[in-house]
Formats: sequence, structure tokens, C-alpha cells
Amino acid sequence: MKRIVIFASGSGSNAENLIKFFQNSDKASVIQVLTNNPHAKVLDRCKRLKTSALSFNRVAFSKSEDVLNILRTSKPDLIVLAGFLWKFPEFILNEFQDRVINIHPALLPKYGGKGMYGMHVHNAVVANEETETGITIHYVNENYDEGAIIFQAKCEVSPSDSAVDVAAKIHELEMEHFPKVVEKLVVS
Ligand code: GAR
Repeated sequence: MKRIVIFASGSGSNAENLIKFFQNSDKASVIQVLTNNPHAKVLDRCKRLKTSALSFNRVAFSKSEDVLNILRTSKPDLIVLAGFLWKFPEFILNEFQDRVINIHPALLPKYGGKGMYGMHVHNAVVANEETETGITIHYVNENYDEGAIIFQAKCEVSPSDSAVDVAAKIHELEMEHFPKVVEKLVVS
């Protein structure tokens, strides 16, 4: 059984979707969720779904090896960032090379980089009158949103769409594609 660890910072709808998808799998399982936010809704979801979850602070994450040691113990085959907003430390990436992926709610390299997350992305897409947007699943490297792209899916943005409408379209794409892409990566 392959082991997946998820990092999330907020609501955790992607984390929940992944947990549920792999509850029906005999190939892989989400063994743990880690969050930088002790009040994140993702922790309630984990409780409900009976999935192990832990929160950590910045010192534990990037100024010491505490989070790295948690990962050394849980031995993930894949680390999935699902709405995780802190930059991933290089010393952790070095130990899990090509095994850390992220989902981004836009068609990278557009609308990536520091500060580009969640509604900020969709607001920018609408402000720039884009006619399409989408999701990107990519490997994580030491720069925000710059690792090699694994998968993209697109949706239309119509002139009447608000940022909230765009968010709903992106959510749909994420729910549909993310688990399948994770499964492909983790069992190949
Ligand atoms: C998702 O749309 C994800 O793509 C985005 O945050 C949302 C988290 O939602 N990630 C980023 O913007 C990363 N730069 P969720 O907590 O409900 O899964």
C-alpha cells in the first residue's frame, strides 16, 4: 500500500476529496494530514473522516527538523500540497526529491508566485478578462509554483463570470482530476 501525506492550510475540500477517493483504494491511502493552521477547517474534516492530522508552527517546519522527522517516521511515497500556503523548505524537498506535488488554481506559469492563491488568483483572472483558466498540478521545487508541470485542465471564463463563478469552475476541475492524477503518480 502506497502512503500519501497531505499538507493543507485552510478549508481542505481537496484533502477531503483525496481522503475519500483513497478510502476505496487497495493501492494507496492518505495516512496523515499536516497543517500550519491549528484552526483550519481541514482538521474538522480529518476528525470526521478518522484521518490522522497534526498542526505545526513555523519553527517546527522550517527552522528545525521537527516536521521532517514526522515525515521520516510516516515515510510517504508522495507528499501532496492541497491548498498549502507556506513555502516548502528546501531541506525537506531534498529528502523527498520528485515526491512533492502541488495543485494550483490557474494555468501556470500564469497567475503563479507569492501572494497568488485562492481568490486572489480568480480575482486577477477576471480583472484581466481572461477567456480561459484552469488548474495545474506540478512538482514542487524551491520557487513558488515553478516546478515541472504534470497535468493541466482548462475551463472557459465567460464575460459575465465573477471571481466566485470562476472559483466554482476551478473547484469542479480540482474535484474531478486531482485524485486521479495523484493515483497515477503514486502507483506508477
Ligand atoms: C484550492 O483551490 C487550491 O488549488 C488552492 O487553494 C485552494 C484550497 O482549497 N491553492 C493555491 O492557491 C496554492 N497557491 P481547499 O482548502 O478547499 O482544498
